[in-house]
Amino acid sequence: MFTLLSTKPVANEHYLLTLQSDVRASKPGQFINIKVTSNTDPLLRRPFSIFDHSGTNLQIVVRVVGKATRQIAVLHPGAIDCIGPSGKGFAIVTGKKALLIGGGVGNAPLFYCAKKLRERNSTVTYIYGATSQNTIYMLDDYKNISNELIVVTDDGSAGVEGNPVDIAKAIIKTNNFDMIYTCGPQIMMQRLTQELSPIPIQASLERYFGCGIGLCSGCTVATKNGYRRACIDGPVFDAYDVLWDKP
Ligand SMILES: Cc1cc2nc3c(=O)[nH]c(=O)nc-3n(C[C@H](O)[C@H](O)[C@H](O)COP(=O)(O)OP(=O)(O)OC[C@H]3O[C@@H](n4cnc5c(N)ncnc54)[C@H](O)[C@@H]3O)c2cc1C
Ligand code: FES
Repeated sequence: MFTLLSTKPVANEHYLLTLQSDVRASKPGQFINIKVTSNTDPLLRRPFSIFDHSGTNLQIVVRVVGKATRQIAVLHPGAIDCIGPSGKGFAIVTGKKALLIGGGVGNAPLFYCAKKLRERNSTVTYIYGATSQNTIYMLDDYKNISNELIVVTDDGSAGVEGNPVDIAKAIIKTNNFDMIYTCGPQIMMQRLTQELSPIPIQASLERYFGCGIGLCSGCTVATKNGYRRACIDGPVFDAYDVLWDKP
């Protein structure tokens, strides 16, 4: 049973939703699956990564891109139909050096990931990628949770102009990282896998979800071990197992 407590705009077309539930345990990288209305439009649930989870409060960041997300952004506080936390999350390393690389709304699961890494005495270097300044959300929270934070935007309106892959390539020349965590556009994660090898990389993948519970095979990911379902075998995968060019 989930209750929507509040919705707050945090960037252009991005909203932070705070939910209350009796769920106590979750892992960074897991998602909740929201049914927006009780009717059939939209019919399917929509998945959102957990941005943060503390006690009975669970937060997600929603970027408005279509019908369901537009409706979610204007929901009134009260009961909300959610399933989760679902899926396999990130494996959190202890006492290690971690590099986190997020692109756009893909930064959302990495906040919770960074928080758990710090709790396990790992250091967090964070590359926050965005298209433009107006899509960057909650930067102070990301600064507080990271040992080092680098902002990179496509248009140079905040931080460094460029893309997260090139920044990551420069940083690894002078730092030894034990683990990379990433979530963002597929092309960004594919390039990271090709260009940061052999540093271990855990990548959270986005797919269209039909059922969200492993029944429809609508969310398949081609891997070296055959097709896997993002909703139950992921969404977090070993990036080197993913066959990035195969649909
Ligand atoms: C595991 C997982 C975690 C996610 N976490 C978040 C999150 O934390 N915050 C967030 O804002 N969004 C997240 N998403 C994406 C979110 O689920 C979609 O944006 C949402 O379902 C879109 O619904 P809609 O009806 O508003 O848009 P639609 O009308 O369904 O689509 C609008 C546009 O978005 C594109 N789109 C929609 N869904 C996807 C998708 N899954 N992959 C690629 N393109 C898509 C469509 O091609 C279309 O151009 C996540 C997706 C997955 C699979
Ligand atoms: S969404 Fe149906 S199997 Fe993954």
